[in-house]
Amino acid sequence: MEIKNNLILALDVLSGKKAIEICNQLTEYIDTIKIGYPLTLAEGISIIGILKEKFDFKVICDYKVADIDATNSKICNQTFKAGADAIICHGFVGSDSVQACFNSAKKYDKELFLLTEMSHPGAKEFLQKNADAIAQMGVDMNIKNYVAPATRLDRLREIRNIVGNDAYIISPGVGKQGGDAKKTLKYANAIIVGRSIYESDNPKIACENLIKTLK
Ligand code: XMP
Repeated sequence: MEIKNNLILALDVLSGKKAIEICNQLTEYIDTIKIGYPLTLAEGISIIGILKEKFDFKVICDYKVADIDATNSKICNQTFKAGADAIICHGFVGSDSVQACFNSAKKYDKELFLLTEMSHPGAKEFLQKNADAIAQMGVDMNIKNYVAPATRLDRLREIRNIVGNDAYIISPGVGKQGGDAKKTLKYANAIIVGRSIYESDNPKIACENLIKTLK
């Protein structure tokens, strides 16, 4: 996936109006947004099509799909039918569940991102112990896209080592969660940034300043 400025906006606002207002200010700097349950539950899945039509952005749906294979297929199919360019699924559920998401992505000619280790502190309790194996499972399944944490660069580097340089890693945790944008991009292809842009008094300036730090 080609992502402008290697920056994905996480748009976890709670209304379509607010989402459009923020996107309107950022079209110069971004071409890819990530939406998740907050905006989708507030506005319905049609928000994907609305944002795509208005802005021609790529939309990654962070639905962290984590069910049995049959249900995963249905979730992914509905998401792609609604216009999403990519979906994020959890890896801890195992290869059959992940394969269902991957098959759906292939069927719709869209992308799947496999989540290996999460960025928050709680990820150390259970997920981190299995993250390397999850990443290796993705490699064995021929998955090309991954999500790995900006908050622990040693872990991000390790996941990069496992998935290889041809894989595409997107990394959340920059800004509010403490991750550094430039350092993260040593190992990740793109960073995901939410609150430090959309909660700022001036999202445009916040975005511009962040991009300057990447140079
Ligand atoms: P902030 O506001 O912290 O937003 O800049 C970060 C965004 O990324 C999501 N998030 C994750 N998504 N794996 C994911 O797939 C993760 O480890 C992870 N950590 C944070 C978060 O929900 C928000 O949308």
